[in-house]
Amino acid sequence: MNKLVINGGNPLSGSIEINGAKNAAVAILPASILASSGICSIDNIPDIEDVHCIEKILKSLGCKVKTGKNLVVIDSTTINKIDADTDDVRKMRASYYLIGALLARFKKARVELPGGCPIGVRPIDQHIKGFGALGAKVEIKHGCVSVSAEKLVGTSIFFDVVSVGATINVMLAATLAEGITTLENVAKEPHVVDVANFLNSMGANIKGAGTEIIRVVGVKELKGCSYSVIPDQIEAGTYMIAAAACGGEVIIENVIPKHLESISAKLIEMGVEIIENGDSITVKSKGRLKGINIKTQPYPGFPTDVQQPLSALLTVAEGRSIINESIWESRFKHIDELKKMGANIKVEGRIAIIDGVDKLSGAIVKATDLRAGAAMVIAGLIADGTTEVLSIDHIDRGYPNIEDKFKALGANIKRVSYVE
Ligand code: EPZ
Repeated sequence: MNKLVINGGNPLSGSIEINGAKNAAVAILPASILASSGICSIDNIPDIEDVHCIEKILKSLGCKVKTGKNLVVIDSTTINKIDADTDDVRKMRASYYLIGALLARFKKARVELPGGCPIGVRPIDQHIKGFGALGAKVEIKHGCVSVSAEKLVGTSIFFDVVSVGATINVMLAATLAEGITTLENVAKEPHVVDVANFLNSMGANIKGAGTEIIRVVGVKELKGCSYSVIPDQIEAGTYMIAAAACGGEVIIENVIPKHLESISAKLIEMGVEIIENGDSITVKSKGRLKGINIKTQPYPGFPTDVQQPLSALLTVAEGRSIINESIWESRFKHIDELKKMGANIKVEGRIAIIDGVDKLSGAIVKATDLRAGAAMVIAGLIADGTTEVLSIDHIDRGYPNIEDKFKALGANIKRVSYVE
């Protein structure tokens, strides 16, 4: 097993490059299943475990998958299986995108229920509602979702909750349906727009992604294409927070500053200087920052996926900060780990009240989930003494080369293997 060992206290300086967006890549790779001719060549793919997992799943279905540096080339004309039932499918959340993609192309699919970070109940009722409205029969039995349809027919669907996964999944299913599908109360996250752009590059007819209403005009077939994934908003936000927490000056390259506005606004409120420059952002911070209040919300609100990294910074901000986690009901598991390092935090349901302390002190802590892991790394970077972050397989699912990136910025961090 591996752990990260961090000696805190170094300011960060220099520049780092952000990789392609995990949550776009894990939808775009399964979406390549929709190509009944040609090959999909997808660039700017992050080198993370969740991507490796999807590559294995696609191979298990009969796709030919070749990989290069940040590149995945997929030939899905050779698919010979619509049953996704391997351990990899059960491991990750995004395997639910196989349902929408296989249903659209083959009119049936059998996919084991997805896993992922333990941050809440994570229902998929809105995905099912969408597939049903398009004409599919959906059955969940023994932890497996089976869908089938004679044909899929476009319709109007108003989602009960704003869901990234349901928006993308039903959009996938609707691409090859007969007629027009209108999706309302949809998620507007940058990765939703990226998936729509990818599908349009394959020949789909999707308009409105990034707004309140998405309109999909069904087409007869989709083909392979070349595409480059957008930069990762959440990875960028994590490094912005780390730079703010450690002090110093860091240039974060390969970002879309517009996607980071809710994060920049909160850091500026804390006293951080943020300079936008084309496709890079400079984060400058010195001295103690001020506590703030945040409420996580769907895009363009403050992203839930950045809540945990930000909470690590708030532990040492001046005064009281209040976090209202409105998306996931169990996204405060990292708080007990932060407390082991001396943080003063009270959790009441979906609210965390943080009273800033002068310093955190190094301790042995766990990554309880992916973004919790990033939070513990940031806490280790600012703490006095040595912090060991265990269970970093969570971190490897979503952050490429995290220790190398922080080392390049001057942090004292290393990966150490150990036997439990
Ligand atoms: C995506 O999860 C991301 N995962 C999550 O990122 C992210 O936290 C989340 O969107 C919100 O931005 C991937 O893209 C693979 P949702 P998803 O459906 O699609 C409720 C990370 O750290 N809901 O937008 O599963 C649900 O309970 C991960 O990278 C229903 O009620 O999230 C939640 O409260 C973790 N019924 C809210 O909607 C449904 O059918 C938003 O969930 C679906 C969702």
